[in-house]
Amino acid sequence: MTEQRPVTDTAARPVPTLPDAQTVTAVQHYTDKLFSFRVTRPASLRFRSGEFVMIGLMGDPHPETGKQKPLLRAYSIASPAWDDELEFYSIKVENGPLTSKLQHIQPGDQIILRPKPVGTLVHDALLPGKRLYMFATGTGFAPFASLLREPETYERFEEVIVTHTCRDVAELTYGANLIADLKQDEMMIELLGQEALDKIRYYPTTTREKSDKMGRITTLIENGDLFTDLGVPPLNAQDDRAMVCGSLAFNKDIAALMEAAGLHEGANSEPGEFVIEKAFVG
Ligand code: A2P
Repeated sequence: MTEQRPVTDTAARPVPTLPDAQTVTAVQHYTDKLFSFRVTRPASLRFRSGEFVMIGLMGDPHPETGKQKPLLRAYSIASPAWDDELEFYSIKVENGPLTSKLQHIQPGDQIILRPKPVGTLVHDALLPGKRLYMFATGTGFAPFASLLREPETYERFEEVIVTHTCRDVAELTYGANLIADLKQDEMMIELLGQEALDKIRYYPTTTREKSDKMGRITTLIENGDLFTDLGVPPLNAQDDRAMVCGSLAFNKDIAALMEAAGLHEGANSEPGEFVIEKAFVG
């Protein structure tokens, strides 16, 4: 009997035909608005956990010339730097030029990936500290999916507090599953160590659908609930560091709260106490 090779098998991979083509190896849908997918990683691609790249598909042919142009958007790489594939977490926007098409990809399909990683949600842009906060809304969880699987995160911090705020409970699934799996997966336990995984404090909240913890994280910082619930001191520039990823309005509001607590924004060229990146919005 001959064995049927899965489409993800190296030998069965189609020869890339697009410029910078990578092959989709897995796709998972969470809600009608959210999905994640994995693609092959170019052998030469080096990146730091937390960075983003431009990815996309070929656009529709021009009605007169028939020419096609790549349709690219910035996406945080959700997989860690050591992984031999790349993972992405995406919103589906009904009329979004890219995501209305991207949401239909299947294993074996190709996407375009420009191999030039950049970004500020990286350890290099943060000064050493005791406690690392990851503040995410919606698909802003993606860079943290990378950083949570990165050993350096636990080497640098004693505590890693991950907050994720979404409208509904189902929108928390990708992050909730990732953290639950991380704590159970033997390979991850071996790679990161049990002590490292015990540093993770996961704090999911919803703003529309009823759940155990409701409210915008900005409100829960302002009224002190976040700190009381976790039993940690209020934000302070000596011990606390933060990485922020969400909508423009969210980033702006969190930045104001960080600054009010005495934390300064960092960059690759000048590390600081918090860093910010806008989540991909469709
Ligand atoms: P809310 O439901 O109160 O708007 P969105 O889907 O609009 O990107 O929002 C994702 C999550 O982020 C929602 O729970 C939303 O809460 C929350 N959010 C949006 N804007 C802000 C903000 N400026 N500050 C804090 N949370 C925000």
